[in-house]
Order: sequence, then C-alpha cells, then structure tokens
Amino acid sequence: MTSHKNLLNQSSHLILARTHRDRIKDGLTVIMKGEGVWVYDQDGKRYLDLEAGMTRPVHVGYGRKEIARAAHDQMIELCYFTPMEFANPPALRLAEILSEITPGKINRFFFVSSGSEAVESAIKLAKHYHFFRGDKKRYKVISRRGAYHGVTGGALNVLGTVLPMRQIMEPLAPGTVFVESPYCYRCPLHLDYPACDLACARDIERAIQFEDPEQISAFIGEPIQQGFGAYAPPKEYWKIVREICDRHGILLIIDEVICGFGRTGKWFGIDHFDIQPDLITMAKGISSGYVPLGAVGCTEKVIEPIEIFQHLHTYSNHPVACAVALKNIEIMKNENLIDRSRETGAYFLDRLKTLETHPIVGEVRGTGLWAGIDFTLDKKKKTPFPPQRVVRLTDRAKKKGLIIKTMGQALEFAPPLIIRKEEIDEAIRILDECITEEEKGIQ
Ligand SMILES: Cc1ncc(COP(=O)(O)O)c(C=O)c1O
Repeated sequence: MTSHKNLLNQSSHLILARTHRDRIKDGLTVIMKGEGVWVYDQDGKRYLDLEAGMTRPVHVGYGRKEIARAAHDQMIELCYFTPMEFANPPALRLAEILSEITPGKINRFFFVSSGSEAVESAIKLAKHYHFFRGDKKRYKVISRRGAYHGVTGGALNVLGTVLPMRQIMEPLAPGTVFVESPYCYRCPLHLDYPACDLACARDIERAIQFEDPEQISAFIGEPIQQGFGAYAPPKEYWKIVREICDRHGILLIIDEVICGFGRTGKWFGIDHFDIQPDLITMAKGISSGYVPLGAVGCTEKVIEPIEIFQHLHTYSNHPVACAVALKNIEIMKNENLIDRSRETGAYFLDRLKTLETHPIVGEVRGTGLWAGIDFTLDKKKKTPFPPQRVVRLTDRAKKKGLIIKTMGQALEFAPPLIIRKEEIDEAIRILDECITEEEKGIQ
C-alpha cells in the first residue's frame, strides 16, 4: 500500500488543478474518506464540508452504499457499449426520468462526462439546429462577463470569469459576444435596481443589432450565477432575455450545471423564473459526484430539424454513469431532498444573515442551499474587498475544520442537501470566528 507520507510530498506525480505551487509548499491535504457531510484527511482530522466536495457536486452526501451497489451491478450487467446507433437501458431510462423533472418542454437528452462537455454539446446542438434549417450563417454565441461555463474549447470561449483560465489560452476562436451580468450589488452599469429598468437585459438587444441578429446562434447563461457568489438576477431578467432571443431566432441555453438537482430548492434553477429554455446543461448533482456525468437536454423544436448530431464522445450515454444517476435521483425523491434544500436553505440564509453585523460583510444572499457572502472594505460605498483576504478566510476555516470556498470577493456555500440544522449552526459559529479574526488581523 502507498504510504500517505509519499502522497504528502510535493514531488508527488499528481498534477493538481488550479493550485498555485505556493499553496502546497508545506505539503498536501489528502482527503481519505467521506461520510454524510463530513470528510477526513490523512491525519484523521475531520472537516465539515460546506461545499459538497468544493466544486459542489455531492448533493446526497458521502458514503451512499446503494449508489456503489448500482454501479457494481451495472458493471457486471453491461459495462459499456457505443452511443452510436445503439442504446442501453440505464441511458434510456435516465432520459425518460429527466423528461419528467426538467423544465417544461425539455425532453431529449444526450449524456457526457462533465459540465464542460455538456456546454460543448449544447453549443453544438444549437449550431446543428440552425445548420439543418438552412440558417448556416449563425455561429456567434452571447455570454456574460462573470459567467462560468467550463474549460474545454467551446466552453472556454464563453467563459467570462476566472479570467486567467482564458487569457493563458488566447487567442481563442472568434464568435463570442459578451454582455454584462445582472449583478445589482455592484452594478457593472453603475445603475440601481429597479430604477435601472433592467438595462443589463435590455442592452442585449443592442449587442445583437451590432453583431447582426442573423449571425447569432445562442445565448448561454446560468440561471443564478456563481461568478459573484450565488447571485440571483431580478425576477424579470430571464423573461426579458427570453423575449429578445425569440425576436431574433436565437436559442436560449440555460446552464444548470450547479443549479440543477435541487441546489436552489427547486429541481432546476430556471424553475424560479417561469420561462422555457430551448436547451439546458447539467452535471454535478445529476450523479452527486459518485461518477463523472454531464448531460444536455433540449426541446422537440431543437432536435426535430437535426438529421444527424455530428458529435461523439466514447463515453457518451455511459451505462454505469447513467445507472448511478438513476439511483441518485431515486434517493433525492425518496428523501425529499428538493424540499429539504428549500427548507434548510431558508434556515441557513437566516443564520448567515446574522453575520451582516460584521463591518466587512457587505451582502449575504442565497437561494435554497446555495448562498454567498460578498465582502467589502466599506459597506456604504461597497468598496471592493481584496480577494487574497477571502482566501485567508478559507485558510482560517480549514484550520478549524470547515471547508469553504472563495468566489472572487465573496465566499460561496453549497453544502450537501442532507446537511442538518446542528451542522449549519456549527458552520456559522466557525465562520463568525474566522470573520472576527480577519477583521482584527489576528494571525
Ligand atoms: C455553470 C457551470 N457550467 C459548467 C461547468 C463546467 O463543469 P465541469 O467542471 O464539470 O467541466 C461548471 C463547473 O463548475 C459550472 O459551474
């Protein structure tokens, strides 16, 4: 057996994602085990995981034996077969179940292995729709500054945050048009809601006219945005975007990679806004992170003209991944995790709001079990907060056994949907301590 000491050595053979070498100069934390909302490192230290695995997929919590059994049974029955011209029972069944829970008319599905691949597939499906209708000029995609849609080619093109990720890879392919995000706390247009009359949404029309409406394939956006710390737009926002897209024959892709599967207290984030997307993307909570899985879903209108979807991943429609997702969704239904996310989320938000008395806490916000604290150096002026101080808050919390994550000037929270009130109380107690220490400059 490999000794844990070797794993701790910085010269380990593993490459870590988005980890500055200075962050691991004193050694690596190796997570060995998970149970419920808790994870354990190589020294047996226990952490309350307020981020469902940090990238937020583990909706049903760690250590679900029934999911492991579902994977085991499917591997023995059929481990793999091609997604071209053949189907398999778990993929067929998962598509059927998704058609029942996804928003409105979404009822055709293609499975991939990640959120980025789901975004690639959605952008390609949109392009195929226009191509097969003879509308071959449409190639541009509208995205938003502050958007996160993943890291592969097409997804990177529409990435509007974590900017070094795209800047190192530039030049990228042409064809992305960026518009502003509905971030009212620090409005990029320097306006105030509702007097602004949703200028950020209405301005999309101007961008479309400038770019030529007949060259635009799709608009992509997260229903509630991670970029600024779990930011929900004003309630009218998505209706205005939908109307603009309809006026110009542009498809609307809603990226549900984080929001989907109960994160915001409904099955999908866009369910809060009462509009019909043409395509949605999913990942993370679809399999609760037990296996890699992503998906794109679309309406009949989108799939109908497409004679052949010229797209293929070896692991599309993977039977084991789909079997895991089926068991995961069954657990969510049996344990009412969507309602629980809404109810526990309301409690979590109330408790987080008690932190607003701290001078550096600018705004606390949340929808379901997805919440954020936006920090500031001056509450009145909403002066930007140094992101490295938010990183320091996460370091303080880690020392005290709490896993939290940064989102620029904000902290963002996305615990497993099974988290209990006592666990939330414990998290708030530690957060309060960390913010106090940060304010006082305690080392
Ligand atoms: C909204 C959104 N879309 C796409 C992605 C990319 O997903 P993945 O990291 O699985 O490729 C993410 C990842 O966090 C996301 O939050």
